[in-house]
This record gives sequence, structure tokens and C-alpha cells, in this order.
Amino acid sequence: MIPRAHMEHFRNPRNKRPMSDASATGEVEGRRPGETLKLFLKIGEDGRVVDASFTNTGDRQSDASASALTVLVRGLTVPQLEKLDVVDIAQRLDSPDNPGVATPAYEILRSALAQLKGAPSPYQDEGRLICHCFHVRDGRIRSYVRERDLRTVEQVNRWTRACGGCRSCRPDIELILEQERDRVATTEPGA
Ligand code: FES
Repeated sequence: MIPRAHMEHFRNPRNKRPMSDASATGEVEGRRPGETLKLFLKIGEDGRVVDASFTNTGDRQSDASASALTVLVRGLTVPQLEKLDVVDIAQRLDSPDNPGVATPAYEILRSALAQLKGAPSPYQDEGRLICHCFHVRDGRIRSYVRERDLRTVEQVNRWTRACGGCRSCRPDIELILEQERDRVATTEPGA
């Protein structure tokens, strides 16, 4: 069952509007080619977020987490934004055990923070499309596997939603997990 807070943000997304004077914009691909989810952050003179909004040209499923994020970040400083984790956003949707629901918001936040620093988005050039159902690319799966020490396809699905549909991408994800295990084994001291 979908938690009430999640349903509320889905039905009545907050701050779903473009922003012309944003200090930073974060952007990730949607589930289908050409679709984008964007975050706009306006940072005030005191270094805190004074306004946050989002636009979404794709799957409305991402609205809930982006909406919760725009409420969560108001008043925070950039160092505080950098400390936010995907679980913090999932918590706002009453879904701390289901972080995959918050990954779109987490990713637009990280993309916006990269832009603030003048760095490229961590979600650019992510390589081959692995999961066509959820539009998840090779690089995104590898980054979650490395950051969260994921070991199984089920864990990858929990964090990225990949393999949550037809499951035809399962062999590719198993191969990525195997390659990442080998990479760790060969880089460990004494290997
Ligand atoms: S291609 Fe990944 S679930 Fe369908």
C-alpha cells in the first residue's frame, strides 16, 4: 500500500513550476527518451535555499519525490544539502524502507549541487541503456552498486528501480554485479 504522505505529494505536487532566476538547475533523464525531470534552486544572500521548484515532462511517478524534495530543502545551506541522502527524501514520503521511490529527487539534487560547483552532472554520459522499462543506464547502476555496496539484483532494484518490470535486463545487471565484484577483488590490497 502506498503511504499517505507519498500519495499526497503525488496527487498535489508542491512547487511544480519552472523558475527563471534559479541559482542552480539539476536535471536527469526520465523513463522515456526526451523526458526530463528538473530541479530549480534559488539560494539567498544568507546562503540558504529561499525557493525550490521542479518540472517534469515524463512519468508522473517522479512528482512525489521531487515535490517532497522542494519542501525539504527550503532554508537549508549548501553543506546541509550535500549531506542529504536518498533515505532522507524517502522518509518524507513515509517510505524509508523503499528508497527507490526517492532516487529521482536525490539525483536531481546531486545534479544541481554539481552545477553549483561548476562540475558536470554525475548523471551525464551514463553509458548503455540497461533497463528499458525504467530507463536506467549502466553508469547509474554501477554508481549505486559502488556507493551502497549492492550485491544482488533485488538490491539494485530497490535503489534504482531497474529490473522492476519485464525483468529482461536481469542478465545484464547480474553481469554488472559480477564485474563490480571482480573490480573490487582486484583492487583490494594483496589481490
Ligand atoms: S528492461 Fe528492466 S525491467 Fe524491463
